[in-house]
Amino acid sequence: MNETINNILKRRSTRQYTTENVKHEDLELILEAAVNSPSAMNSQPWHFTVVNDQSILQEISDAAKEIGKNHPDKQMQAMANNPHLHLFYRAPVAILISCKDNVAEGLLSCAAATENILIAAQSLGLGSCWVQFVELLFATKNPIADSILKKLAIPEGYTFNHAVVLGHKASEVTTQKKLKSETITYLK
Ligand SMILES: Cc1cc2nc3c(=O)[nH]c(=O)nc-3n(C[C@H](O)[C@H](O)[C@H](O)COP(=O)(O)O)c2cc1C
Repeated sequence: MNETINNILKRRSTRQYTTENVKHEDLELILEAAVNSPSAMNSQPWHFTVVNDQSILQEISDAAKEIGKNHPDKQMQAMANNPHLHLFYRAPVAILISCKDNVAEGLLSCAAATENILIAAQSLGLGSCWVQFVELLFATKNPIADSILKKLAIPEGYTFNHAVVLGHKASEVTTQKKLKSETITYLK
């Protein structure tokens, strides 16, 4: 099996991290992998905000959980009410992904870039996790979100959509998924 396929198959969401920082050169490689993803009409509609500041991540996590407590989905509510849950899993760094407004298939293109981030992280021996939950905070206008957005300085014309956390794995998830025949149709 080649290395790329191996990294794709071995990647699992990591939710426990050591306190070791991610090297700047690794972050640069990961972001380079992100911008080399496909995008609709080569629109490259992304902006990445790299956050090491744990106080900002804590603030976003706390505020998003507060909003999540009223979520119609019971699982989301349970996560929001879990006092031990940090939505960024106390990872040393989070990449916040914002998408350019009014771009055709912008979110799909940002999702493609995000997958490249996850695979690149795995290839560098790092753990990662896609974190969508925090989108709740910014989905409706509220003063806490406004104050956090000011700190994030996301460029005009871009909207935050989701985050990826990165770091050194404190524990390894090794479950592998099986290809299910009902998910594929071959037409011959
Ligand atoms: C669109 C999307 C949103 C996700 N949001 C979260 C999230 O908010 N928090 C989290 O811990 N994991 C989140 N995940 C990770 C999934 O839970 C995870 O990918 C899934 O359970 C499969 O596990 P694996 O990544 O280890 O293969 C998200 C994944 C995707 C693609």
